[in-house]
Amino acid sequence: MKKIENYIAKNINEYNDLYSKSINHPENFWSEIASTFSWRNKWTKTLEYDFNKPEFKWFLNGKLNITENCLDRHLEENPNKTAILFEPNDPNKETQKISYKDLHQRVCVFANVLKSKNVEKGDRVCIYMPMVPELTIAVLACARIGAVHSVVFAGFSSTALAARIKDSECKILLTADGSFRGSKVIDLKSIVDEALLECDSIESTIVFKRTGSNVKMNNNETWWHNEIEDVSDYCEAEEMDSEDMLFILYTSGSTGKPKGMVHSCGGYMVYSTYTFLNVFQYQSNDIYWCTADIGWITGHSYIVYGPLLAGATSVMFEGVPSYPDYSRFWNIVEKHKITHFYTAPTAIRALAKHSVSLVESNDLSSLKVLGTVGEPINEEAWNWYDKNIGKSKCPIVDTWWQTETGGIMLTSLAGVTKDKPTFATKPMIGIQPVLLDKDGKEILGYDKEGILAIKYPWPSIARTIYGNHQRYKNVYFTAYPGYYFPGDGALTDSEGNFRITGRVDDVVIVSGHNLGTAPIEDAINLHENVVESAVVGYPHEIKGNALRAFVILLDEAVIVDMEKEIKEQISKTIGPIAKPDIIQIVPGLPKIRSGKIMRRILRKIASGEKENFGDISTLLNPEIVKQILIKA
Ligand code: PRX
Repeated sequence: MKKIENYIAKNINEYNDLYSKSINHPENFWSEIASTFSWRNKWTKTLEYDFNKPEFKWFLNGKLNITENCLDRHLEENPNKTAILFEPNDPNKETQKISYKDLHQRVCVFANVLKSKNVEKGDRVCIYMPMVPELTIAVLACARIGAVHSVVFAGFSSTALAARIKDSECKILLTADGSFRGSKVIDLKSIVDEALLECDSIESTIVFKRTGSNVKMNNNETWWHNEIEDVSDYCEAEEMDSEDMLFILYTSGSTGKPKGMVHSCGGYMVYSTYTFLNVFQYQSNDIYWCTADIGWITGHSYIVYGPLLAGATSVMFEGVPSYPDYSRFWNIVEKHKITHFYTAPTAIRALAKHSVSLVESNDLSSLKVLGTVGEPINEEAWNWYDKNIGKSKCPIVDTWWQTETGGIMLTSLAGVTKDKPTFATKPMIGIQPVLLDKDGKEILGYDKEGILAIKYPWPSIARTIYGNHQRYKNVYFTAYPGYYFPGDGALTDSEGNFRITGRVDDVVIVSGHNLGTAPIEDAINLHENVVESAVVGYPHEIKGNALRAFVILLDEAVIVDMEKEIKEQISKTIGPIAKPDIIQIVPGLPKIRSGKIMRRILRKIASGEKENFGDISTLLNPEIVKQILIKA
C-alpha cells in the first residue's frame, strides 16, 4: 500500500499533476489518499453529494477511529517522538514534551474517565479550557469514545458559553479553575458557574487545576487530577462511521445565533492531514508551531488533528505574544528551534510595531516555512514578516479557509508553488474555486473580480449546522445554487492567483476573529437605554478591521457612561473580542423604506468618508447622514 508521502507535491510539476488528477478524477484521487490511513473497514463508495439538498458524504460505510490514526498508528515506528511540545505562559516554568506513547496513554485514561461519567458515542461534550496539553487530551479522549467535542474558546463570556452548551445539549463540561494570559489570571470557573445556572443538560463538570485559584466546587463537579487516579490506560477505540459526527465548532454569522458547524470523521481526517503535509511540507524532524488557540478551527485542524495525524511535533503555546515582552514569539522560536511558524496577520502587524531589535536578539535560523491565516495580509506586514522573520529565505503560505471548510482551500505550497504578497495564490489540490458575478454566472478567465465560490465538494466540507440544516442551506447554498458560497469576495491576477478582497456579508474579521455584526447589535440592544444600533467594520492598521457602533438611545439625558456600559454589555454577552473601538450615539440610522438599515453608508462614514455616499435618494431619512457626520 502506498504511503501518503507519495501524494505530496514536491515541485511545481507534481502539484500540477496532482491537481489535474484531483479535478479530473476526484473520487479516484481521494480514494487513493484515504487508502493511506488506517481503517477498520474500507468504504464502499467514495462520494455522494447534492448541492441542493445540500448533502455531502465521503468514504461511505468506511469504519475508523480518528485517534487510532493520530496515536496508535505512530506507536510502532515512533513511540518516543514528541507529539505535543507545550510552552507555558510563564517563560520560567518548564516546557513539557509529551511523546506519542504518553499522549496515547493519557488520552486513553481520560477516555475511560469520560466513560465513567456515562458519556457515550454521539453525546456532546463541551470543552472550555485554556491552552494546556489537557485540552488536546480532552479533544482526543472524546474522539476515542465517539463523543462529539464542542470546544468553546476560553475568551467567550458566560452567556456565549451557555448559548453554545444549550444549542448542542452537551452532557458534560470540561474546564479549568483558571487560565494564565500574560500577566493576567482569568477566573474561568466563575464564568462557568454563571453559565451553568442556565444549562440543564450538563450532568457533570470536570475541572482541571491550572492556576490554583480558590474555586467553589458544586454538586457533580470534580477535579481532573482526582478523576484520573488509578484509571486504566487501556481504552479500545470506538468504531465510527466515516460520516459520524467528530465535532461541532461554533462560528458567528450574519444573524444573531452562532452556527454550530458539524464536521465528520472520515473526510475531515483525510483532508486535514493531506493539507497539513502539502501546504507546510513538514519533514519528520521538523518542529511545527501554529500560534492559534484550539478554540478556533485553525487550532483544531492545524495544532491537533492535521499535525498529529501526520505524526508531527506540534507546539502548544499557552501565553500571548506580548508577555513578558514583545520578543516572546521569537524567544520561543529560538528555544525550540521551530522550523514552521503559522500565525495571524494581526499578530504580525502588532509585532512589527515594536523595535526589530526584539527580533534580532534571537536566533531564528531554524525557521524554514512561515504561514498566515484568518484574514488578508497587507503588503507591508507581508514584507516585514518575510524580511525580519523569514530573512528573505522562507516561503510564506497565506492560507485562506474557514471553520466551514475544515481545512486550507487556497494557498501556496511552501517552496513548491510560488507565493505572492497579499495573494492566497492557488487552489489546494482537490479544490475547484470560481469567481461568480452578481447573477451567479461564472466569470471566466484571469484578472477578474467577483464572488468566490467552490464548485465541487472536498472531503472536509462541514456537513450541516447542528440542529438547523435549513440554515446551513440558506447561508451557503441558496444565493448561488450549485456552489458552496463562503461569503468572501476575491480577485485573480493574470496568472490565476487568488486574492481575497474581504467579506461580502455582515461578518467582519477583527484581529483574525470572525465576528457577525448582528450578534453584537443584539448585545447592544439588550441595554435598557438603547433603541436600536448598527455595527459596521472599518479598516484598522493592526486589527485589519475594527468595529464601530452607531447607537440610538432612548434617552440621551440619562447620566451614565453609555460607552462603558455598552462595552460591558458586549463583553458579558459575547466576550471582550467583540467590543467596538468606537461607539457613536446617533439620532437615527439611515434606512430605506422597508426599514432596512443602509449599512453601505455607515461603512463609508466609519472609514472616514465625508461626502461620496453615492445614491441616497432611496433613504427614508436622507438628512440623517449629515447629522451622523457632524458628530462623527
Ligand atoms: O473572510 C475569510 C477570512 O476568515 C473567514 C473565516 O473565518 P473563520 O471561520 O473564523 O476561520 C478562520 C481561520 C481559517 C474567511 O471567510 N480569512 C481566513 N483566512 C484568510 C481570510 N481572508 C483572507 N486571507 C486569508 N488567508
